[in-house]
Amino acid sequence: RDRQPIIAIDGPAGAGKSTVARRVATELGLVYLDTGAMYRAVTWLVLEQNIAIDDECAIAELASQCKIELTPSPDLQSPVRVWINDTDVTQAIRTIDVTSQVSAIAAQSAVRQALVKQQQSWGKKGGLVAEGRDIGTHVFPDAEVKIFLTASVGERARRRQQDFKKQGQPEVNLEQLERDIAERDWKDSTRKVSPLQKATDAIEVQTDGLSVSEIAAQIINSYQQQLAQR
Ligand code: CDP
Ligand code: CDP
Repeated sequence: RDRQPIIAIDGPAGAGKSTVARRVATELGLVYLDTGAMYRAVTWLVLEQNIAIDDECAIAELASQCKIELTPSPDLQSPVRVWINDTDVTQAIRTIDVTSQVSAIAAQSAVRQALVKQQQSWGKKGGLVAEGRDIGTHVFPDAEVKIFLTASVGERARRRQQDFKKQGQPEVNLEQLERDIAERDWKDSTRKVSPLQKATDAIEVQTDGLSVSEIAAQIINSYQQQLAQR
């Protein structure tokens, strides 16, 4: 085999993909790839340039021409930095505005084509933990390890509420968070192009009540079993 292994992690919003993927990547010395950050960055640019969300032509052009960079951070505490056309959008892509529009942009096939092409070129040599919605089904269908993380909507909303609290942001209503998450789940799972779906060969991990370390340990275990079989 001429490439290093790939671990694909998919699942709905708040299932723990980013946190778990970063932990696993750090422990195994692999590169962490946050594909959601790329869809968020394009969404930020669309809003920044006042392009209408349904102007698929203009958005297609933007997505195929923009330059996205993800720069890994030295430790688990500091965020992975996200750049689009040389602007640091690490914070800007996490706003409610971007979050509420990202699923509509991510449903556009030209946007997906452009970003998937970039992800696959980054992944050519393998050696990464990639996380998103279509990694195991579409971006890296040959990934050695495929994980599908889930958790109940209530649990995921509570996690997001904790995130806002930790960032010192004003209290967000739990029911509102549940509604937002359920709506994004619905949009992501019902879209025509590469909907959120468990790959047939993915291992499903229901994470309610599990800690990040427990989930990471389970994934590392699957990975090592895979390597032993190669
Ligand atoms: O972190 P969170 O789960 O809130 O979302 P994210 O991973 O940052 O992804 C934001 C949005 O990008 C998702 O709701 C999807 O609409 C889209 N996305 C996608 O379509 N395909 C991916 N591989 C990753 C994200
Ligand atoms: O990337 P995704 O939207 O799937 O989830 P995340 O941003 O990694 O996780 C959302 C929040 O839930 C983070 O603050 C995690 O630390 C937390 N989390 C947790 O409390 N327990 C888990 N088993 C997984 C994540």
